[in-house]
Amino acid sequence: MRKIILLPLSLVFVLILGACSTNLNNMNPLHMMGTSDERPGKSMMIMHGRGNTNIADSTGENELNIPPVLKSDKEEGNDVYYTIEAQKGKTEIFEGTETDTLGYNSSFLGPVVKLKKNQTAHIKLKNSLDEETTFHWHGLIIGGKADGGPHDVIKPGEEKNITFKVQQEASTLWFHPHPLEKTAKQVYEGLAGLMYIEDDMENPYVYGEIDFPLIIQDRTFNDQKQLDYRFAQFPDGTIGNTLLINGTLNPRLTVNKEKVRLRLLNGSNARNYTFKLSNNLPLEQIASDRGLLNEPVKLTELQLTPAERAEIIIDFSKVKENEDVKLIMEDGTVLLPFKVTDEESKVQVEIQKPQNPFTTTEEEMQKEVSKEIVLFGMMHHVTINGKKFDINRIDFTQKVGETEVWEVYNKPDMMGGMIHPFHIHGTQFIVISINGEDPPENLQGYKDTIALNPGDKAKIAVKFEEKGVFMYHCHILEHEDNGMMGQIKVE
Ligand code: C2O
Ligand code: CU
Ligand code: CU
Repeated sequence: MRKIILLPLSLVFVLILGACSTNLNNMNPLHMMGTSDERPGKSMMIMHGRGNTNIADSTGENELNIPPVLKSDKEEGNDVYYTIEAQKGKTEIFEGTETDTLGYNSSFLGPVVKLKKNQTAHIKLKNSLDEETTFHWHGLIIGGKADGGPHDVIKPGEEKNITFKVQQEASTLWFHPHPLEKTAKQVYEGLAGLMYIEDDMENPYVYGEIDFPLIIQDRTFNDQKQLDYRFAQFPDGTIGNTLLINGTLNPRLTVNKEKVRLRLLNGSNARNYTFKLSNNLPLEQIASDRGLLNEPVKLTELQLTPAERAEIIIDFSKVKENEDVKLIMEDGTVLLPFKVTDEESKVQVEIQKPQNPFTTTEEEMQKEVSKEIVLFGMMHHVTINGKKFDINRIDFTQKVGETEVWEVYNKPDMMGGMIHPFHIHGTQFIVISINGEDPPENLQGYKDTIALNPGDKAKIAVKFEEKGVFMYHCHILEHEDNGMMGQIKVE
């Protein structure tokens, strides 16, 4: 008995998982909780001491928070100036209680930073936290100096100015901190904001009226209704039992009988979600990580792993009288109930066809694999190509403007393994194939993060438009912090 008690917790966890593996499709707890119908067995949850990690249904008692659009400091011709400040605050997430949180220009989360293609952005970054941070622009095509990786630390009380040219099409990107080994904690405590790239194409969907962002995050609050990362954190990815959308607890969204555009961001540290609608209305996906798909894709369900985005259109004019519509997970968990009013839309909105031509040619995609990436391990023992991150080591080099084919392999371990969402900074890539097959239609646009199931081997075409040192990593934030990250020097 004594010996068993003295086993490291992770090993006990492994043994228990091994023992229950026969009736589970996937042995990994995250995968199970995020994407499978099976809910984890009680024994497991007790073993790793996190309590119940199933998400509670949203009661729909609070109207969804819509993040404000950040006002520019000034705009002169093609130049736009913004100030973004990371700060501490208190937020009333639960009625009558103040929760200590972090945010950008606010107490919790951040505003939407809007940029236009071809603009030159000047951003003043201010760190008003009492810890170091960085400002990383996830999905932005940008030079290494302004990318905000772990090298670009801003000390408490200090500020820094960055300038970059916006060179990509309309898309929904996001920004979050990236300090060495502290990314997970800072994101968990509230640092995440949206960056919208806009272009000249007319967008009939009006922000906050029929075009809503959904920043989806799961959290665990302690008895004092605080976000205690030390208490909640788990080395294989922190998941929580309380869902917040745009920071709203128990959210609902009121919509008219018309087409509505939802921009989903999985801003969670680790949880995977498979979304669907409770009445099986189709989801029409129009955009992925880097913007509009060449053709919308009709889906009955949609999976997003951490950091992935998808924009969907839901046609609420198709909803029948007294019919309940909710955004749910595939196991039925209610994430966002919709309240559909009687009001019909005045204008029939159609989205313009994307002008999203691939700049990567067929020929480039036929190239031989020139970089191999192997994702492996779990808990604290996660690696890329057998190594943990070392800020003083450059793992790869690549020439600016040149496309290379990377092969990314999620190598299973003795327990089967788990999904790793693989992300590269400063670029958007094309998924050439997954296990030798064409990727599913909704992964055929440019992506900056791709979910790999255990055993999956994906070929991606990667080109950097700008020079610098860029990170690539697993976007389970605890894996990133545990060293499942490498760096590439582009010159
Ligand atoms: Cu959202 Cu290093 O990334
Ligand atoms: Cu990134
Ligand atoms: Cu991972």
